[in-house]
Amino acid sequence: MFQPLPPLFLERLKKIYSDDELQIIESGYATPKRNPVFRIHTTQQENIEYTLAELKEKELNIKPLSFLNQAYILENGTEKDLWDLQCYTNGWIYLQGITSQIPVNLLKNYLETENLSKDNLKIIDLAAAPGGKTSQLATLGTENHIIASELSTIRAEKLRYNLKKLWVEDIEIVTGDARQSLTHLPDDSIDILLFDAPCSGEGIINYTREKSYDGWDIRHIKKNYLLQRDILRNNLRLLKPGGILLYSTCTLAPEENEGILHFLLCNYPELQMIDISSYSRLLEGEGLGVRSKPWVTQFWDTVYKKEVSKGMRILPSSQNEGFFIGMFRRD
Ligand SMILES: C[S@@+](CC[C@H](N)C(=O)[O-])C[C@H]1O[C@@H](n2cnc3c(N)ncnc32)[C@H](O)[C@@H]1O
Repeated sequence: MFQPLPPLFLERLKKIYSDDELQIIESGYATPKRNPVFRIHTTQQENIEYTLAELKEKELNIKPLSFLNQAYILENGTEKDLWDLQCYTNGWIYLQGITSQIPVNLLKNYLETENLSKDNLKIIDLAAAPGGKTSQLATLGTENHIIASELSTIRAEKLRYNLKKLWVEDIEIVTGDARQSLTHLPDDSIDILLFDAPCSGEGIINYTREKSYDGWDIRHIKKNYLLQRDILRNNLRLLKPGGILLYSTCTLAPEENEGILHFLLCNYPELQMIDISSYSRLLEGEGLGVRSKPWVTQFWDTVYKKEVSKGMRILPSSQNEGFFIGMFRRD
């Protein structure tokens, strides 16, 4: 089990997961290609109808994922089958895995449930490329001002390309290190901060892609934790009272997940965690094999605050990548 990875990797996972859960993770890492999942991005009814008709005509069977907005799983085809479609070329669909779609869906559900406006919002996506979540945010409401921040110039270009292809306009792209690049913005000016953090990527390991695991090193986890913490530290001042912070990673490392939530809970008493744990049960009920683990409250000698249990820790599996989410509201 976990053969290509160093023994410390398994030792760490054993502190968190049961034998059954480790089997699920292993099967996720060993799945060469998952069934493609995509989102219909267009809001124009005729384009939606065209997309569904084209999929039907090409005999591509799709199943809607009811817990995600406009998301479908392709049951009998590959990503390449989708690339060849007119609706793909037209930018009406976007390939985006199940778990990556969750944060913005959670946000939408929360705003709707709490009767909060989805319009006229100021939103920052702190680590935006290649743009999956930025483009989802663009469909949230109207008259929203979205800033997409990205460190890498090359990835910022990819972000720009994807947004253009998806007909998403008026996104302000800020290229630079998010620890400094947004200092020009005033305090208490942002309604929604989304931070889909750069991380050690343990949730997206795939044995057929050596690059996804050969650099695994405990030092990277520590380095990522410090970077994530510093990006948050330098940008939390932007969040308005009543504003929402969504934090996510695609790693399993508690330092970068519960560790960051713990840091926020200890240092920012104005941040209250929103309980999203029940959404995991909804995902599990879908019968796709999506599995979550409620929380990690202790890892080696570190004990985390009990409230971290309000986050969501999703196991990698043969159907989805591993993911972690925490959601806060500022008092
Ligand atoms: C997990 S990816 C974001 C994925 C994106 N949110 C999506 O849904 O398509 C993290 C991104 O953070 C960027 N990044 C890394 N360090 C950064 C920093 N200091 N400031 C801003 N962005 C950074 C990486 O280049 C990478 O594109």
